Amino acid sequence: MASLNDLKHSYIAVKKDVETYLFVEDYASAKKAIEEAVKLLNEINKREPHKWDAAFESLKKYYAVCKAKLGEAELKQYDKKKDLSKKKEDGSDNKGQDDILVNESGQEIQTKFGDIDVTAFFDVASSHPTFDDIIGMEKEKDIIRDNFMLSDAMRKKKEEMEIESESFILLYGLPGTGKTYFAQAVATEMEKASGNHIEFLSVVSTRVKDSKVGHTEKNINAIFDYTKQFEHVILFMDEIDALLTSRQLASGEPGHEGVIATFLQRLGGFSANKNLLFIAATNTPYKLDSAALSRCSTRLEVPLPTKELLKISIQRKIGSYLHEEISIDELAGLLESKHYSNRDIKMLFKDLKLQALKALPEDAPVSEARITKEMVLQGMLDHPSAYSASEAEKLRQYREENKY
Ligand SMILES: Nc1ncnc2c1ncn2[C@@H]1O[C@H](COP(=O)(O)OP(=O)(O)OP(=O)(O)O)[C@@H](O)[C@H]1O
Ligand SMILES: [Mg+2]
Repeated sequence: MASLNDLKHSYIAVKKDVETYLFVEDYASAKKAIEEAVKLLNEINKREPHKWDAAFESLKKYYAVCKAKLGEAELKQYDKKKDLSKKKEDGSDNKGQDDILVNESGQEIQTKFGDIDVTAFFDVASSHPTFDDIIGMEKEKDIIRDNFMLSDAMRKKKEEMEIESESFILLYGLPGTGKTYFAQAVATEMEKASGNHIEFLSVVSTRVKDSKVGHTEKNINAIFDYTKQFEHVILFMDEIDALLTSRQLASGEPGHEGVIATFLQRLGGFSANKNLLFIAATNTPYKLDSAALSRCSTRLEVPLPTKELLKISIQRKIGSYLHEEISIDELAGLLESKHYSNRDIKMLFKDLKLQALKALPEDAPVSEARITKEMVLQGMLDHPSAYSASEAEKLRQYREENKY
């Protein structure tokens, strides 16, 4: 059995981890570390009752912060699993229990279609950003509001005038610019605006693709069958080029025609339902099949952040820790010149905050942490942007050729 001293040392180390994770806003890791810290505290508490009440209280507060930040998505997922295991434990539902999930409203959701388990294709989003979290993209937010977030009255008027509602959005742009993040925010905003629960299904298209002829079609069918169980659903398919490469580019690939045909057929049925929205994302829109693209009238480019937007990100994320020897304007200029994407800056800022924290004397408060110019220059060497000039050029050409 561990000695009390060992336990205390472990607890102090884990608590430091918690603080670091909170500081760099890695709430998922912070939550795990808090759980670990609570376990240790429980052990300590057995031997020194009540002495650690204050420590418990502060962990509780941290935990609440993590839960709030991680958003409801993760918790709902956790509740589903809990519900399921409860059912398994008391044996109240033995029939096909591995194939069924229980959603928040208690509805049983079928997840297995033939021998295909659709959950294998999904990515579970751990956060639900809102439009306020999305820095920039104001025009794109407006397009979504005007076309996809209609009041019931407006929707009825459109129907009366026989204006077809839109149901297919394509987001395209360089890696890490925020396509997935934007799609998640669309789901949050539509849910807020409609007051209905919207099931956000995030599909990783590369997982759907199967090299055996006919299997990709089966997977696509299973996904669309799955969506039918929900009243309001957003089907988000990331890396859609994996499935919908143009016929010319995929020529010679056995079964590719069948994949596109199945997809288009199912999409047709999907879009006939007013409560469904299909969002696809890609880095390479110029590779997509033209018949598939022609179904989509809302194509939004998600660009790299401009200097002005970078300034806002810096201000929001690390502004208060920036040393006076480097201004926000200068840092934004540096990042812009190296074409940093939102993902690139997220990783860079995390590293910069950690560097500042490491340099902070043990007893100094976090508010005194400073990111120096040297840390910035070193950080940019350690975390260069993922920018590719040739990819950017292809996107520029696509944009020029597709002015709609
Ligand atoms: N407009 C934005 N404002 C603030 N943060 C953003 C924005 N866009 C992206 N981010 C941050 O950058 C991260 C990466 O973005 P995301 O994963 O959405 O990129 P992506 O375009 O989908 O990349 P990929 O092409 O590789 O799939 C997000 O998790 C988010 O934290
Ligand atoms: Mg993405």
